[in-house]
Amino acid sequence: MNNFTFRNPTRIHFGKGQIARIREEIPADARVLITYGGGSIKKNGVLDQVHAALENITFFEFGGIEPNPHFETLMKAVELVKQEKISYLLAVGGGSVVDGTKFIAGAAFYDDDPVEMLYTRATKVTKALPIGCVLTLPATGSEMNGNAVITRWETKDKMGMFSELMRPTFSILDPETTYTLPARQTGNGVVDAIVHIVEQYMTYPVNAKVQDYYAESLLKVLMEEGPKALKDPTNYDVRANIMWAATQALNGTLSLGVPGDWSIHAIGHQITALYGLDHAQTLAIVLPAVWSYKKAQKKEKLLQYAHHVLGLTEQDDNMCATKAIEKTREFFEQMGVATRLSAYGLGEESIPAIVEKLRQHGRLKLGEHGDITPDDVAELLKLAL
Ligand code: NZQ
Ligand code: ZN
Repeated sequence: MNNFTFRNPTRIHFGKGQIARIREEIPADARVLITYGGGSIKKNGVLDQVHAALENITFFEFGGIEPNPHFETLMKAVELVKQEKISYLLAVGGGSVVDGTKFIAGAAFYDDDPVEMLYTRATKVTKALPIGCVLTLPATGSEMNGNAVITRWETKDKMGMFSELMRPTFSILDPETTYTLPARQTGNGVVDAIVHIVEQYMTYPVNAKVQDYYAESLLKVLMEEGPKALKDPTNYDVRANIMWAATQALNGTLSLGVPGDWSIHAIGHQITALYGLDHAQTLAIVLPAVWSYKKAQKKEKLLQYAHHVLGLTEQDDNMCATKAIEKTREFFEQMGVATRLSAYGLGEESIPAIVEKLRQHGRLKLGEHGDITPDDVAELLKLAL
């Protein structure tokens, strides 16, 4: 196990009825901006609960944050923050709303043009507004981490960033808010959380048993409960287990002292930026391709995953690793997330632009060994056609 330092200060209020706790978290004299997406929170009653919790607190609202939130939209919220002297941001929605709100929090105090945050991974953020979050889509882990992924629509750049200052102060996780998720988003969420886990697991062994076995437990929970959520969307326990697993998948715990891959996300982001696929759809396409391409280097962990998570018993190691990749693909398909570029109308002609974007952003050495070059990406994506 490698050395690490760990602290995660986000307070979690988990369970039914916890939205009311907002009033314990936000100072009575705050000027709050509620941020949200396309309106799902108006239809399912979540916004009403938020309004009730904010009784006697001054609040404003900014809606219309799109999936894969756009820099251009978020800058309108930054103007509103300045104009209304907002002192607290309250993100109500999925990962896009939470990420977008993190960007707003940092951009509100940014000295230079905030577009710079996208190209410097937010490293120059020195001050940010406090953020609270009511999560309605378990997937990204954004509710308990300092990451944000923002798209600049004008240039089709989808860029990840991190700042300790952008981590939510508190997050409310009420599984009942997820009952209204369309099947597509339930599937996306489970796939995204699984890929977060394996980006921190499917590398090479460093004898970090706590992290490994924890990752394996979370994978089992998501693989057991995911299909149940599709069949029985209002089953509280199913939704609760998925929600807590997705938070744990990317709140910093699993990455402690272990190598990370993250090539699947790096490649996936370019596919979303260029062709508009959902985040999880891109991951479902890229994961089997990366694992097949790097099967030899990932062999030990692929076999561990095959045995511990999938319960495979094949004697032949090569066959066992291949079957583990196929089973993972089948699971994604079972969750309603297609795993081939062709399923989204994309062919070989779509690949050069993806590779070019990686080059533009200097993503020249991906993977846990830094040995996946743009040329490798061009090759491995052919396995995903
Ligand atoms: O906009 P509304 O109307 O709210 O509808 C949303 C949206 O259309 C809908 N939805 C959310 N909760 C709902 C609901 N519909 C009905 N009932 C509910 N309870 O779902 C749609 C998708 O929402 P979105 O927030 O875009 O999805 P997700 O949570 O998957 O977030 C994706 C974004 O997060 C980034 C992705 O790149 C993408 O931009 N990621 C953020 C990460 C992080 N901060 O750590 C890590 C991830 O790897 C990921 O990159
Ligand atoms: Zn993700």
